[in-house]
Amino acid sequence: MPKLCEGRVAIVTGAGRGIGREHALLLAAHGARVVVNDLGAGVDGTGRDDSFAAKTVADIRAAGGEAIVNGDDVSSWSGAKHMIDAALATWGKLDVLINNAGILRDRMLVNMTEEEWDSVIQVHLKGTFAPSRHAAAHWREVHKVTGAPTKGRIINTTSTSGIYGNVGQSNYGAAKAGIAAFSIIIARELKKFGVTVNVISPSAVTRMTEGLRVLTEEQKATRDPKWVSPTVVYLASEAAQDITGRVIQAGIGRIAICEGWRRGAEEAQVDDPEEAGRLIRRMLPKVRRNAGMDGMELD
Ligand SMILES: NC(=O)c1ccc[n+]([C@@H]2O[C@H](COP(=O)([O-])OP(=O)(O)OC[C@H]3O[C@@H](n4cnc5c(N)ncnc54)[C@H](O)[C@@H]3O)[C@@H](O)[C@H]2O)c1
Repeated sequence: MPKLCEGRVAIVTGAGRGIGREHALLLAAHGARVVVNDLGAGVDGTGRDDSFAAKTVADIRAAGGEAIVNGDDVSSWSGAKHMIDAALATWGKLDVLINNAGILRDRMLVNMTEEEWDSVIQVHLKGTFAPSRHAAAHWREVHKVTGAPTKGRIINTTSTSGIYGNVGQSNYGAAKAGIAAFSIIIARELKKFGVTVNVISPSAVTRMTEGLRVLTEEQKATRDPKWVSPTVVYLASEAAQDITGRVIQAGIGRIAICEGWRRGAEEAQVDDPEEAGRLIRRMLPKVRRNAGMDGMELD
């Protein structure tokens, strides 16, 4: 097997369990040295337990790879900086940042508390922004000194909930849609430093999703988190320098490119509100299908 990330230094957030753990293991198998970040929180973000990150690190080392534990909270400005500094202090460089950590606080809007909203936005959206911001500042400095493309990589994590919508997840979906928009914008900003930014929308059975629906053994096998990581490892490699600002679904037996918010039908503007209503009705598509892996209908 050719090693795609030989010598590269990667950070994977939320790598103590689930999808992040698989990213870390596959990156290490492809020669990357990995900062395994995980707070060890419950699905709702409460509590902490360093043993999950430690287990991922132990498994990487047992397979002959290099990894260190990092227990910082991704949504903390100083914690995120500390995480980037840990890679630099240990291996003298940073090539890849995979923002994967996440939590859930599902609730219908009418019952959602301020705390449920704030905590999900905090972990997902700020927890993607803060590490990205510190990594970007580092790559800008490297670019200033060398004048060469840094080949830095940011891979963020969205969800079908953010790109197609899911009832009961207005906090989570808003954060995940925000992550996709954030990534497309910073891909443009960081291009001049030779940094690419892409987004993965995974589908996998983890503790976060295992209770959502009853699955056959065959369905579970196609939803193993290990199916998401090959796409991420390729995007993390130097070979993927030409792919940036993309949202890619991975899991359930498919890799798919997602393209959102494309301009649809249009008409010349009018000054009569009733005429505007008639035009809008005429232009609305008759069927709006979710392009999700499961082919679910939205409405
Ligand atoms: N499983 C799926 O099908 C699916 C679908 C769409 C999106 N996602 C996204 O993929 C990512 C991984 O999800 P998963 O299913 O592996 O979940 P998971 O619960 O198995 O793993 C998430 C990890 O993140 C860690 N974490 C939580 N808050 C943290 C914080 N503040 N700082 C550091 N670490 C923290 C947790 O301790 C946990 O180990 C999440 O962003 C999730 O929203 C998952």
